[in-house]
Amino acid sequence: DDIRLWGGRFADGPSEALEKLSASVHFDWRLAPYDIAGSRAHARVLHQAGLLTQDELQRMLEGLDRLEADVAAGDFTGTVADEDVHTALERGLLERVGPELGGKLRAGRSRNDQIATLFRMCLREHARTLGGLLADLQEALVGLAEAHPEVAMPGRTHLQHAQPVLFAHHVLAHAQALARDAERLRQWDARTAVSPYGSGALAGSSLGLDPEAVAAELGFERGSSPNSIDGTAARDFAAEFAFVTAMIGVDVSKLAEEVILWNTREFSFVTLHDAFSTGSSIMPQKKNPDIAELARGKSGRLIGNLTGLLATLKALPLAYNRDLQEDKEPVFDSVDQLELLLPAFTGMVATLTVHGDRMAELAPAGFSLATDIAEWLVKRGVPFRVAHEVAGECVQVCEREGIELHELTDEQFAAISPQLTPGVRDVLSVPGALAARDGHGGTAPSAVARQLAAFREDLRAQ
Ligand code: ARG
Repeated sequence: DDIRLWGGRFADGPSEALEKLSASVHFDWRLAPYDIAGSRAHARVLHQAGLLTQDELQRMLEGLDRLEADVAAGDFTGTVADEDVHTALERGLLERVGPELGGKLRAGRSRNDQIATLFRMCLREHARTLGGLLADLQEALVGLAEAHPEVAMPGRTHLQHAQPVLFAHHVLAHAQALARDAERLRQWDARTAVSPYGSGALAGSSLGLDPEAVAAELGFERGSSPNSIDGTAARDFAAEFAFVTAMIGVDVSKLAEEVILWNTREFSFVTLHDAFSTGSSIMPQKKNPDIAELARGKSGRLIGNLTGLLATLKALPLAYNRDLQEDKEPVFDSVDQLELLLPAFTGMVATLTVHGDRMAELAPAGFSLATDIAEWLVKRGVPFRVAHEVAGECVQVCEREGIELHELTDEQFAAISPQLTPGVRDVLSVPGALAARDGHGGTAPSAVARQLAAFREDLRAQ
């Protein structure tokens, strides 16, 4: 029995090599539940259009219910000979309701509008899952910030000591990036709430079906595609989803890199929990940050999935082309990798031991309070150009003498500039430098507390 959906005009069956090349069922099988939901909605509009009797609709829906249960239980699966999930499920339906009734369901739809719809449905669900996993990671970062509200650390630019910042401020910077990624997922979801079902192969259907009813039943809040050619051919939703997952990968990778550095003996800023680190097969003493390294590594893979998909889409003529079958594996891979990675990564972050004393000790190192000398002078009317020079000279003297800024004597200050009275010492403390930066978004404990409260509120609303 020929299970192909397109055998009629062919005298010969497909070669084995073609069958193997063509098969997508091993990766599109995960769309089966969405395919069945689409079939239910499609059966209803066929009935509305007078193409299925009430009794036929009833039997069709019962058959689809049984098929769904068998798929869920693993009692029915697609095979390579089925080519794809759509073919397999049509076979399953025929087996359950008979060829007479089962053969009626395909009227007015094509695998082209089906696949475009099912792919959207599946990714929309994963967007919600990923949003939840991102919220967990943000929660873990907020927890770190809350647990260490007053710990100072060296803030860096070019990886060099720049100015002291609060550890909570630094950690929340990562959380802010992840919050934007979560927002990107929500905005993507709203943009993707349009159903291609009813677009047919590319030109719509002559059967008087109602794509809006299908869209509503399948949860597409913005209705059906306004253009059937675009409906079947567009994959920008997939590329955009791949971008958002790649961006999540990159944002997580940046944090991962810092955890790896902080966890070195040289930094000693954090210690990883045993449950979220690994050992070495030869060096008994080792405790490695493998989760963070896998995060860094996987981000490359997520970027590859995005660029690979864009290359597939580039220069495709309208409308559907079989090239589009290459759209699913990279995006599914990105989803799968993130859904594996994020829970482990969140666990690692949530269980970090933070060595606040070590961070605070290094916060003023590298003359990171030089800017405070300059700004102290500016407040006394010295032009910033001059103040910058004077503060720079302080650093030069310290380097020559091998001392820190606060160890300069009154005489040394005065020799550098008569404006540098002993009062300058007031700003040569880390707590003073932090507290002074109390504007919106600044690193003062009061400003960071306001940021934290606002962030918590936004997180709750996500
Ligand atoms: N398996 C195809 C895909 O993933 C969908 C089926 C469309 N096939 C076709 N020959 N028009 O894009």
